Amino acid sequence: MRTPLTLQNTILSVTGLGYVGLPIALAFSRKFPVVGFDIHEGRIEKMQNGEDPSGEVTASEFEGANIEFTANPAFLRKANFHIVAVPTPIDVHTMPDLGPLLSATITVGKALKPGDYVVFESTTYPACTEEECVPLLEQVSGLTMGKDFKVGFSPERINPGDKEHTLKNVIKVVSGNDAEALEFISAVYGCIVEAGIYKASSIKVAEAAKIIENTQRDLNIALMNEISMICDRLKINTFEVLEAAGTKWNFLKFTPGLVGGHCIGVDPYYLTYKSKALGHDPKIILAGRYTNDQMPAYISKKTVQKMVKQGKSPADSRVLVLGVTFKEGVSDVRNSKVAELVQELKAYSLQVDVVDPYADAEALHEDYQIELSKEPTGTYDAILLAVSHKPFMELDNEKLKSWANFPALLVDIKGQFRKKAEGFEYWSL
Ligand SMILES: NC(=O)c1ccc[n+]([C@@H]2O[C@H](COP(=O)([O-])OP(=O)(O)OC[C@H]3O[C@@H](n4cnc5c(N)ncnc54)[C@H](O)[C@@H]3O)[C@@H](O)[C@H]2O)c1
Repeated sequence: MRTPLTLQNTILSVTGLGYVGLPIALAFSRKFPVVGFDIHEGRIEKMQNGEDPSGEVTASEFEGANIEFTANPAFLRKANFHIVAVPTPIDVHTMPDLGPLLSATITVGKALKPGDYVVFESTTYPACTEEECVPLLEQVSGLTMGKDFKVGFSPERINPGDKEHTLKNVIKVVSGNDAEALEFISAVYGCIVEAGIYKASSIKVAEAAKIIENTQRDLNIALMNEISMICDRLKINTFEVLEAAGTKWNFLKFTPGLVGGHCIGVDPYYLTYKSKALGHDPKIILAGRYTNDQMPAYISKKTVQKMVKQGKSPADSRVLVLGVTFKEGVSDVRNSKVAELVQELKAYSLQVDVVDPYADAEALHEDYQIELSKEPTGTYDAILLAVSHKPFMELDNEKLKSWANFPALLVDIKGQFRKKAEGFEYWSL
């Protein structure tokens, strides 16, 4: 028989302690006892010592946290409100890889008791929770969803590197399998989210809301990338065009750029997968994905064309790439489009040095066989400003010039040096 949970007897577990799971576990640990579970023993060891292996959470945020970090799944039985925040990547065919999600579901299912809740935070396609995860939870636990345990989905909006939009101060969307679940899940999240809770009408609606947030962003950036290619042919600067258009009240302020990481460039494929399964061919979403995915090849081609026009021979030229993480202010290089750009440049026989004060050098070597240089050495025929890390934004033209072998090219992917680059052949998206 199921005894309804109350906020007083809630013990939380978080499965998957990465960029999303760890901040959630730490936030909840101020209100409830928390079991923090992850399959990666090395990561657990670091967290036990007050260190975030992803480098996002500071040591002080671990202080006084009522949380037991463990790689032992048996500890999950202590909890009655389970949150799942494991990765949801795509495979080499850009199909959803539900491996980690289903494996975590099995782990949680084995720990499930009557009265428990399971809330999924991992981004996935609409209907995945009810069609894939719930049957697995029921099968493994021998319990029945609705009668014995409750389920919810609450998409995560954490933005790594962003200290302004945090778990606490961004509205949290929650959903549940019935009205009772929705109320209780809202109450639990309401304990840590100050900005307020949005109660979605169903689990599918909450899943769809998350996936379209990122799909919309991906498509808007793709549109800017396409506009940038058109502006290039028109021989006008895209950022000047955007500045002028941005004076209209309803013009959306997106800019061209590289879409990497494991959210914006990945999540649309979860939606297109489900869309195709339902018989709709999502042409616009996939066109945007195609445009964004070809940007490293486009930028490298433009770089080489411009260098050759300056009389440089690629095989004898050196290029400096500033920034290699998937976005500014983070160490994460997973699915970094700059790393792809570096590989493209190397394929043209250019010698490429990569400098990044934050990048995870080990992952960069493992994933892309790219070595990080501590700092620029000598002079370069082209300098690529690829990621807007703060130290790069603070560079002045004199510093950039000291690294240049003139005539030299400045490729300013984000258009940040448009008004301050002098002496270089300048190109931006
Ligand atoms: N990082 C973001 O910006 C962000 C933002 C919103 C939503 N999301 C979504 O949140 C989910 C998690 O993303 P993330 O960035 O935190 O991932 P991550 O790679 O940083 O962390 C995932 C953690 O889960 C662990 N893990 C993997 N399989 C496991 C298993 N079977 N059991 C237990 N632990 C397991 C890994 O060891 C790792 O510590 C994904 O669905 C992602 O799309 C991410």
